[in-house]
This record gives sequence, structure tokens and C-alpha cells, in this order.
Amino acid sequence: MTLLQTAPSATAPSATSLEEAGLTLPDPDRAAGRRFDIRPAVRQKVSLLLGLAGPSGSGKTYSALRLAAGIARVAGGEVVVIDTENRRAQHYADQFKFQHIDFAPPYGPLDYLGALQTAERTRPACIVIDSLSHEHDGEGGTLDCVTAELDRLAGADTSLQQKLAAAAWRKPKAARRALLSGLLRVESHVIVCIRANERTRMAREAVATEPVELGLTPVAAPEILFELTCSALLKAGAHGVPTWSSQLQGEHGAIKLPRQFAEVFKDKKPLEESHGEQLARWAAGEALSTPLKRKHRRRTA
Ligand SMILES: Nc1ncnc2c1ncn2[C@@H]1O[C@H](COP(=O)(O)OP(=O)(O)O)[C@@H](O)[C@H]1O
Ligand SMILES: [Mg+2]
Repeated sequence: MTLLQTAPSATAPSATSLEEAGLTLPDPDRAAGRRFDIRPAVRQKVSLLLGLAGPSGSGKTYSALRLAAGIARVAGGEVVVIDTENRRAQHYADQFKFQHIDFAPPYGPLDYLGALQTAERTRPACIVIDSLSHEHDGEGGTLDCVTAELDRLAGADTSLQQKLAAAAWRKPKAARRALLSGLLRVESHVIVCIRANERTRMAREAVATEPVELGLTPVAAPEILFELTCSALLKAGAHGVPTWSSQLQGEHGAIKLPRQFAEVFKDKKPLEESHGEQLARWAAGEALSTPLKRKHRRRTA
């Protein structure tokens, strides 16, 4: 391990410009100065945060259960489903083994956090949140919280409401950040199902009159979408077969396929248990570049 000390360099700002801004240059030799360690990078065990986005009937719930079953085989433990969909996940209770949390409104971010913490208590291999979309636009979800906050701050005064729009987001955003850090800290693997709706937007170009197709746009907090390890778009009638590329802007938010997983999903089959197994192996620190089949063959030879 090398301990690097911050030394003045060509890129360091001049002390005078910092002083003008009321700041002082950090002194690495003093106890109060920050020190940074530099070490060789290693793959560590991580928790997966997977997304499945699509319209109703595209295969979110069924695919989540198949992936979760595969993850549970590798990680060891149960699957817990947090179900906001009127207990619809239980339709598959005869095909998959899982614990079930019936999550009724309100759907505020802190309610989600409470459900997540309840699920986590049993130390499951995988938690499925079906669906995360209610956190955004469901009863008592973030958009409802913003409206309630706006009413509290500005009452019926519409011009005051416009002025206080940003202020009304402050509390709900803080609650959402708490949910996000809960999602990032949880030790179980997590799969979130997200509703996606066909959307359009008006063209910015003055001459264009036709609305621009955005495609299947996920209904969920952008900051949560940003943190997903991998996310599949399931189009209408996909029966669990994911789409991994799109020209449409709205669909970019639903698709995330990091390079290391391209091999896992190259088969273009419906999402299944073996995909979940491979993702869980990668999360445990295994390299995916070694084809699993060859490895097994060598072991049994
Ligand atoms: N990964 C999959 N493998 C096989 N069949 C699937 C898969 N995903 C979906 N299906 C089929 O599509 C149907 C609808 O899927 P479902 O998960 O209930 O949709 P959603 O949750 O998006 O409304 C399932 O009952 C199943 O028959
Ligand atoms: Mg469903």
C-alpha cells in the first residue's frame, strides 16, 4: 500500500485564489488534512439492484420470480416479494417459492423503506419490489407528497404555488434519498419491477409539428434508475424476452446492459433462472468471462 500525500502540483489552484474565496489549501502533513490511500483495485462482493421495466403483461413479475429463483440458488436463502399490485404476485405462488408482503397504499418512499427493512429482516437471498412505480405516481407516492406539500406551503394561491414548486420537492426528495440509500445498503439482491408507458413529447424545433415518440418510458425516480446495476426493457407481449437496444429516448432510461453482462443475455431467450444464477455469481466476485459450461465440464472430467 502506498500512502499518497497531496503535494502542490501543476493542477493545484493557487493559494491566493483559494484565500480570496475564503478557503485554505489542504495540508496533508497536518492531522486535520485529508489523507487518501491508493491500493490495487479488486472485485468485491456486491449486491445486485436489477430493474425490469415494461407495460402490463410484458413479463415483469414472472421474469423477476425466475431471476430471483436463480439468484437464490447461488446466494442461498429465500425470495421475498413486496407486492403493491393487489397481491397479483401470488398468482404465481404455485410455480415459485417465495415469501409475500402485501403492500397497500400509501406508497411514500418511507413506506417503501419500511417494507424493504421488513423484508430484509429475514436475510433473504433476493427481494423483489413489484412494483416500484407506485413510489412515483401511486396513492400517497412522491407526486402526491409534492402536491400535499405545495398545498401546505401555498394553499390555493396558484402564483405562490409556482414560486414554491422547488421548495415543495425538498421533503419528498429527502424521503426518496433515504429510500435510495436503503436500496443501496441492503445486503440481499434486489429486483425492482417498473411500469413503462408509451410517451411522446412536443418537438423543440419550431418547425416540427409532430410530437416526438419517446417510446416505453419507465415510471420511477430517475435517481433510482441511475443506480440500477442492470435493467431490461420488456416490451408489450414480450413474454419475458428483454430488449437491449433502442433508438427512442424514453427507452434509454429502461435499458442498462453493462459490458460484463452482454455474454449472459446474448441468447435472446426469456429471462430465466440461469440468468439470475450468472448475475449472482458475478456479484459474488466470480469472473463471467469464463464460460460456466466449460468450467463444469472440466470439473466432472
Ligand atoms: N421470463 C418468462 N419466461 C416465460 N414466460 C414468461 C416470462 N415472463 C412472462 N412470461 C409469460 O407472460 C405472462 C405475463 O407475465 P407477467 O410477469 O405476469 O407480466 P407483468 O408482470 O409485466 O404484468 C406470464 O404469465 C407468463 O406466461
Ligand atoms: Mg406484474
